[in-house]
Amino acid sequence: MTPPLKGKTAIITGASAGIGWATALELAAHGATVILTARRADRLADLSKTIAATGGKAVIFPGDAGEQSHIDQLLSKAMELTGRLDIVIVNAGRGLAGGILTSDQTQWESLYKLNVLGAAYLMRGAAKIMVEKQSGDIVALGSVAGHNISPFSGFYGSTKWAVAAIAESLRREVASRSVRVTTVKPGIVESEFQEAAGYTYENFTKSIARFGKVLSAEDVARTIGFIVSQPPHVHINEVVVRPTGQDYP
Ligand SMILES: NC(=O)c1ccc[n+]([C@@H]2O[C@H](COP(=O)([O-])OP(=O)(O)OC[C@H]3O[C@@H](n4cnc5c(N)ncnc54)[C@H](OP(=O)(O)O)[C@@H]3O)[C@@H](O)[C@H]2O)c1
Repeated sequence: MTPPLKGKTAIITGASAGIGWATALELAAHGATVILTARRADRLADLSKTIAATGGKAVIFPGDAGEQSHIDQLLSKAMELTGRLDIVIVNAGRGLAGGILTSDQTQWESLYKLNVLGAAYLMRGAAKIMVEKQSGDIVALGSVAGHNISPFSGFYGSTKWAVAAIAESLRREVASRSVRVTTVKPGIVESEFQEAAGYTYENFTKSIARFGKVLSAEDVARTIGFIVSQPPHVHINEVVVRPTGQDYP
């Protein structure tokens, strides 16, 4: 059977770890040529080798997803190398522990730069290419923390609320031109996210004690693979995917 994404080109940001890494493997296994980006070039090289070893095609293009110049070059690279852009996974992002009073305010600006502006640059740039071709999938990573606002991660949650708003606005702008813009909002996923956000390991183990088994990056990647493999007339606009036991947020 022909893999569902054979012949397609997919960009994945934040591919050096967690959800991005797993999604790159998933889309490559479905036949896509994957263009991998993140700041850690060594990790991207490892992933690229793993994909090549299983017969997949991967290209690495390291850089900072909060910088518009990197985003512009990334989109140009995809077009230059493969002549097409079918799928863009807007995944690079990080958390920030604490609420409005308790989170580290010195990180607010850089958080918005990566999670909101970087995501918006990529969504806009990709959509401009896709509307020309009248097809394409843009999948943006939101979060349950931007779906049900929590005082324990309030500022981070606001970035994910914003991403979902940008994605839904863009969906309405481009839907008539056969471009699908989807928001995936995961609950707790085991990855490097917790540490990068400044949550203690103890905090994470408390979540497991309360919610039971949490999501793996592969669980989210499988969800994304399902979304982008739908026939052209079907669009799953938004998905909230939580560990079954996660009742909050
Ligand atoms: N884990 C969760 O519980 C959870 C829940 C809901 C939503 N999410 C969202 O899912 C997405 C992926 O999270 P994850 O759990 O996979 O986290 P992760 O394991 O920490 O991975 C984050 C990825 O983003 C990249 N990244 C961070 N800053 C970057 C920058 N300035 N430029 C380019 N790349 C950057 C990292 O690569 P480098 O460090 O190599 O640059 C890494 O590849 C994020 O948008 C996050 O907000 C996560």
